Amino acid sequence: MTTVVFGARGNVGSHVVSALLAQGERVRATSRDPARHGFPAAALKAAAEQAGGEQAGGEQAGGEQAGGEQAAAGQAARRWDGVEVAAADLAEPATLPAVLDGAERAFLYAHPEGIDGFVTAARAAGLRRVVLLSTAALARPEAAASPIARRHRAVEEALEGSGLEWTFVRAGMFATNTLAWAPSIAADGRVGLPYPEAQTAPLHEADIAAVAATALMSDGHHGRAYTLWGPESLTLREQVAAIAAALGRPIAVETITHERARAEMTRTMPEFAVDAVLRVWRAGQGHPAAVSTLVPEVTGRPARTYAVWARDHAQDFLVPKAVP
Ligand SMILES: NC(=O)c1ccc[n+]([C@@H]2O[C@H](COP(=O)([O-])OP(=O)(O)OC[C@H]3O[C@@H](n4cnc5c(N)ncnc54)[C@H](OP(=O)(O)O)[C@@H]3O)[C@@H](O)[C@H]2O)c1
Repeated sequence: MTTVVFGARGNVGSHVVSALLAQGERVRATSRDPARHGFPAAALKAAAEQAGGEQAGGEQAGGEQAGGEQAAAGQAARRWDGVEVAAADLAEPATLPAVLDGAERAFLYAHPEGIDGFVTAARAAGLRRVVLLSTAALARPEAAASPIARRHRAVEEALEGSGLEWTFVRAGMFATNTLAWAPSIAADGRVGLPYPEAQTAPLHEADIAAVAATALMSDGHHGRAYTLWGPESLTLREQVAAIAAALGRPIAVETITHERARAEMTRTMPEFAVDAVLRVWRAGQGHPAAVSTLVPEVTGRPARTYAVWARDHAQDFLVPKAVP
């Protein structure tokens, strides 16, 4: 059987691909522009061969890499060996029938623009099951006033009325949000924080993906909306300490204003995301963040701690990724 993973190079999407491959599933990995965004060379080559021997964008991507990056690309290519790559844009429904053809299941990011086209194409293709990456913002009292929550809810409602089997993974604070600290850690060994004692319960993207992959591959999750928080409540200062431990070097925490933090974070994150993160940080002062045990309950494996996440991402804090 085939599962289509939309946004397969995303933080969560890429782990969904890996989790499905580990279970022996056939995966069709999509991107709006697979060649430009640097899918692993092997996956691109397979896609090009399938498309009739067109020029493989992956050769170009591979040719531009050097040293350690080449080794990492090789590892990724092995991990992705056999993945079918396809171009698809959820906002352009005309691109969807071809990628859904013959597929049984799909992993989806929330894009309200085009969701009706997705539902139409999914039904026509005979897709049976969809798992949506949604947001725990829907569980907050102010959800009705949150544009982010409303966007996700619009997609949820479309899927609820679609006749497809659906599961919503309503994720809380991603640990990847703290990658916004990477430029200042890499450059100056410091982090500016507006609310250093605020608490959050960060989620490892691999755990979000593991829940999604379980809901895709096993029965019993249809009609479930899983509100997923991380396994432990930590102050932002404690999160910086975990990064310092992973790097084996000290990181100074400097208290800065909300406005300065916003300016620093928008260097690596879209403004709407920065504002959402800052809102949660500000609200997280003076009390522990909600935690959840859903990752082990759904996947049967313990949730990864923030310390594990920091070790997994140590390289990102030494050499921050370029802003796309
Ligand atoms: N950050 C948080 O704390 C948080 C909390 C709750 C929920 N969320 C949700 O999680 C999402 C971010 O997840 P992430 O970190 O895994 O995202 P990410 O790394 O930014 O990846 C997003 C993926 O979506 C794909 N994409 C973008 N526009 C698309 C379109 N029109 N059609 C098809 N694919 C499209 C992109 O693929 P290409 O560029 O290759 O096309 C990209 O791979 C947010 O959008 C939000 O919905 C985030």
